[in-house]
Amino acid sequence: MIDRAATPDIEFEGVDKRIGERVLLRDLTLRIAAGQRTALIGPSGAGKTTLLRLIAGVLWPSGGAVRVLGRTTGTLHGRELCRLRRQIGFLYQQDNLVPGLRVVHNVLIGRLGKWSLGKALWSLLRPQEVARAHAALQRVELGERLWALPDELSGGEQQRVAIARLLVQEPRVVLADEPVSSLDIRLGREVVQLLLGLTGAGRTLVVSLHTLDLLGLGFDRVLALRGGELLFDGPPADLSHDLLRQIYGAEYQTLHLDDLPLAGDAGT
Ligand SMILES: Nc1ncnc2c1ncn2[C@@H]1O[C@H](COP(=O)(O)OP(=O)(O)OP(=O)(O)O)[C@@H](O)[C@H]1O
Ligand SMILES: [Mg+2]
Repeated sequence: MIDRAATPDIEFEGVDKRIGERVLLRDLTLRIAAGQRTALIGPSGAGKTTLLRLIAGVLWPSGGAVRVLGRTTGTLHGRELCRLRRQIGFLYQQDNLVPGLRVVHNVLIGRLGKWSLGKALWSLLRPQEVARAHAALQRVELGERLWALPDELSGGEQQRVAIARLLVQEPRVVLADEPVSSLDIRLGREVVQLLLGLTGAGRTLVVSLHTLDLLGLGFDRVLALRGGELLFDGPPADLSHDLLRQIYGAEYQTLHLDDLPLAGDAGT
């Protein structure tokens, strides 16, 4: 039995990730405690998606070790790897839903890790645990869209269905890779608020974000990457415009980061 209070949910020790000659991440060491809500920022190509995929156990480190929920990902195979992946929920930027499947089935995909093959197949004909799917949809205010098809929903609604699927999956770690960049500002804010609401209190969240205004919604910690290296690790209140200039380089202007109000600009 792993003592969750003593063991961080996510642990990187001297992690390098290389593909061929390319270095995607370099010598990364960090720990993320259970229940922590972390935003991952950095310019395009910084390594954010790579880092999330290493946590999800769909990529292995080239050097060093990645431990998630006490298991070293690179050493797991078959059943053990599946067991770990079931405890991790992953929300993508878009295309989270299976197009031809009604909302109820898309939500119930979150249960597949807990079901037998027979129950999963039967559920396609006669949806199982509909009440659970409905309750999850109600939490994202889509209770009445149980039988809709994904293409009858807006982008923001589709993201909320994907969050309902995370709710029924009951993962211990939730990862989201730029879940708001295809949405307008208001919907983006809603999606991040939902993610923050379903995590904390023992459920860990790591979200990569381009929209830095959303950092103030309740993240405990910010990790900033640039060129595969960690440039900043601290609470959102410690970010300053000077730091953001170092982190984003040329993108600083494009993203209009000068206009972003920050607590970390002492005296400005
Ligand atoms: N399969 C791959 N083979 C070679 N290089 C790759 C591969 N996947 C990613 N990279 C490179 O690794 C670097 C980090 O990529 P990653 O996708 O993690 O960045 P990111 O921070 O998520 O960027 P973005 O904000 O654009 O999504 C980039 O320079 C990218 O070109
Ligand atoms: Mg990315």
